[in-house]
Formats: sequence, structure tokens, C-alpha cells
Amino acid sequence: MKFLIDTADTAAIRRLNGLLPIEGVTTNPSIVAKTKREPYSVFREIKDILQDKPLFVETLGRTGDEIVEEAGRIVSKLGKDTVIKIPVSPEGLSAIKRLAQDGYITCATAVFTLSQALLAGRAGARYVAPYVNRISDKGNDGVAVTASIGEAFRKYGIECTVVGASFKNVRQVEDLSRLGVDSVTLPVDIFDKIINVEGTEEAIVKFEKDWETLGFGKSLYSIPERFMR
Ligand code: G3P
Repeated sequence: MKFLIDTADTAAIRRLNGLLPIEGVTTNPSIVAKTKREPYSVFREIKDILQDKPLFVETLGRTGDEIVEEAGRIVSKLGKDTVIKIPVSPEGLSAIKRLAQDGYITCATAVFTLSQALLAGRAGARYVAPYVNRISDKGNDGVAVTASIGEAFRKYGIECTVVGASFKNVRQVEDLSRLGVDSVTLPVDIFDKIINVEGTEEAIVKFEKDWETLGFGKSLYSIPERFMR
């Protein structure tokens, strides 16, 4: 499973990208609004951090024409490798189809059902982003729906990557990994929960304490040369 970051907080992206094998950054209008910054300066800063990894930028247009026009503007400012995120409304699906024909990289987002994802994949979306937690909030099983999308793509030979989105806990991420989902985009707090595990820190503290009983200081480097022959 591959990991993307679902944030526009550039300090957090810098920190996590320095620590972890990050495959890209996804944003949406709500996420960008949280920064209270000028959007294109945020996007450019994220692109600088990511180098060749993809940045996902979402359109807000309500008609197919508006979405296609926005996609053109985004790409003209940020480059053709920018992934255009489009909510899968009927107009969104029409825009995905048109943009795919013109060689744009698109991600169908705000996906709640298997059939929405199948239509988006058939329309030429390169990615689909099912909203795992929000699907569950609506009474369906977000993990199962997301896994079923990946299975259907494999069954029908649709070349579209599943990016699970909308998470509230680490359990949802691990459940998806057991079911072979391609990738997930996680908010910063979920990454921090994944990488800061109590048992690991406790083990490190015990290694340090036990080592110190040898009387050679705190690390391998503090062992005097004469004891290293
Ligand atoms: O990428 C989609 C995501 O930002 C939605 O997450 O937590 O608002 O449901 P959430």
C-alpha cells in the first residue's frame, strides 16, 4: 500500500516527507481553506517539497464546462503532471471523460459507491478516492466498499488506482491494507498515530537502560577504542 498526505499544511508535509516514503499530497477546497493562505503559493510550495511526486488539486466548478476550464487553468499554472481532483457528480463525470480524452490526469473524488467508481474508471480517471469514513457514517461499510472498488478494477482490467480517503482511525487504514487496497491518503494526525507507537518507545528506553549497565556510556560510539579490537 502506498501513502499520500491529505493536507495543505506545508510545515507538516515537509516534516512527514523527510521521515516517510510519501507518494504525493492530496488537497481539497476545505483543506486549502484551513491554511488561510493564497492557494497558488501553497500549491507551489507543496510542489517544491514533493519534487516529482504528484500534487492533487480539486476543482470547484459545478458544470462540465466550468470544471474543464478550471482544469486547464490549474495545469497551466502548476504543470501537466498535476492531478485534477473532480467530485463525481454527473457533471464531474462528464468532465473526467473529456479531460481524460485530452490527456489530463484526473482523480474522481467524493466517491461513495462502487458504481460511481466504476463509471469514473471507465471514463478515464487515473485515480478514484472513496471516502472511507464518510461512507461508514452514512451507514454503509467504507472499508468494504473501498476494497470492492479495487477488486472490480482488477476484474475488469480498469487501470485506475484506488486512493482511500477520509479516515478517522488507524484501524481503517490497516483493514484496507489487509484487503489489498492500492493506496491511502491520510491526514497528519493519523500519520502521527501510526509512527508514534508506545511499545516501540518503551523498547528503546529499555535498550538504553540495559546498555548503560555495561558501563560504556550511552552508545556504541562511546566504547573506548581499546575495547573494540
Ligand atoms: O481527501 C478527502 C478527505 O479530505 C475528507 O476527509 O475527514 O473530511 O471526511 P474527511
